[in-house]
Amino acid sequence: MRDGSASIGVRVLPPNDPRQYDDLAGEWWRPDGAFAMLHWLARARAALVPPATRPDAVLVDLGCGAGLMAPHLAGRGYRHVGVDLTRSALEQAAAHGVTVLAGDATAVPLVDGCADVVAAGELLEHVPDWRAAVAEACRLLRPGGLLVLDTLNDTALARLIAVEVGERLSTVPRGIHDPRLFVDDRELVAECARHGVALRVRGVRPGLWGTLGWLTRRNLGGAGRGSRDGGPMIRPTWSTAVLYQGRGVRHG
Ligand SMILES: C[S@@+](CC[C@H](N)C(=O)[O-])C[C@H]1O[C@@H](n2cnc3c(N)ncnc32)[C@H](O)[C@@H]1O
Repeated sequence: MRDGSASIGVRVLPPNDPRQYDDLAGEWWRPDGAFAMLHWLARARAALVPPATRPDAVLVDLGCGAGLMAPHLAGRGYRHVGVDLTRSALEQAAAHGVTVLAGDATAVPLVDGCADVVAAGELLEHVPDWRAAVAEACRLLRPGGLLVLDTLNDTALARLIAVEVGERLSTVPRGIHDPRLFVDDRELVAECARHGVALRVRGVRPGLWGTLGWLTRRNLGGAGRGSRDGGPMIRPTWSTAVLYQGRGVRHG
């Protein structure tokens, strides 16, 4: 829809309305479905997480959705705890071994310092008060704990690529973003620093040829083949202007 609203079936929802995730519940675990790019990003995010260094290590996955990081964390030694607003997604996360908690990432019902790792993948750009979610992420980390995240930058280029182009190419569900919520990378780094986490960011993007091949296969109806290798790799790029990852350790 031209006004950015999401039209799924008969329901028309405003941009970023969380009920969209209920309407798209059947898409989460389809590697070539509406959330395909989340699979690629989950793999890249999980690659930032080292194996646990102690027994009973906990990874809190804020805005975990259906738990797409779970297969990539298997064998790393963490208890994977997922927090999300969307119950239909949490049911799927639980089926993939995630310990789920229904809740808001801006007020997480977990104690301070409980997490060895906090992940916030493709979450902050959906939260009207992203600073509150960052404060919670940092609060949950134990000293020495690791924050990993990815999000969309608050730039005209991100709005163009992620919304105008991405949502038209169907690599991103139409209407899932409200670009007014996109997160400036320098502000994010400053906010993390205020809460004791030294965040370093880097731009990332899906590999060009992998994405073109994936789109071609999907449009030719042979999409299943494109998912065999997990889809296009997410690669570092020189600019944080569109999509970026962050990784930072909480001071003692
Ligand atoms: C784009 S999806 C990302 C899901 C998952 N992190 C991934 O990468 O596959 C955004 C998720 O954030 C959740 N979400 C949005 N706002 C939230 C909030 N304030 N608190 C908790 N979850 C939230 C949505 O329900 C949705 O599952």
